[in-house]
Amino acid sequence: MITFRNALLAGAVVLAIGACAQPPAPPAAQVEAAGAPAARDYAAEIVSADGAIGVPADFDRWPTLGSWATASAGEGAPVDEWHQVYVSPGGIESYLANGKFADGTVLVKDVRGFAAATLNTGHAHYPTEVAVRFVMVKDSTNARADHPLWGDGWGWALYNGTDTTTQAAPSYEEGCQACHVPATSTDYIFAEAYPVLRNGGPAATPSWANPAQ
Ligand code: HEC
Repeated sequence: MITFRNALLAGAVVLAIGACAQPPAPPAAQVEAAGAPAARDYAAEIVSADGAIGVPADFDRWPTLGSWATASAGEGAPVDEWHQVYVSPGGIESYLANGKFADGTVLVKDVRGFAAATLNTGHAHYPTEVAVRFVMVKDSTNARADHPLWGDGWGWALYNGTDTTTQAAPSYEEGCQACHVPATSTDYIFAEAYPVLRNGGPAATPSWANPAQ
């Protein structure tokens, strides 16, 4: 039987015989890579032909960009929200290489409630059920300029709770953009808050955290 391995061995013998005339055989690692499955296109999995943006099926297993503990009623109020931000695999590497997320990168932010318990670490707060879920898809080409959920280099979407069927934002300008304007200089992402994007460097002073703004 001609197995893949035997075929490779046979190829190696042929190469050895014609050693002077033939290029050297590729290293084994390259042979394996050639047969490896293609990298997933995370944007294509959730963006339909008409520009609708869905919720990625398995995003809660993606790398975490970071998280926020937020007092929704403002300064001095008790912290009552847990925001967790996920990024599609490869997204962090693209940001570290280029200072921007590559086209097709998907971000998901889950807003959850909080529960608390006194543990032996102290009085601990931990996330409970999902209240709302935000999705962003990077597209620096702004290919869907006429679509209400696409613009300023991103596709933007909102889902309530764990619902994955009804996108709830009327438009990105109405539902998202006003709040993200303070992060304009970092591609509308509050990037300075995520330690993993600093690549070991010191924390920057974020412009959006300036109380004067
Ligand atoms: C009330 C203001 C507000 C609105 C409205 C809003 N955002 Fe945000 N968003 C923020 C802030 C502030 C952060 C970072 C801090 C946090 O999560 O508390 C953030 C973070 C995010 C993140 C994580 C990445 C990042 O920028 O740090 C995503 C993804 C996101 N928002 C998507 C959306 C989408 C999509 C919409 C519209 C459907 C939207 N947001 C509407 C204020 C807002």
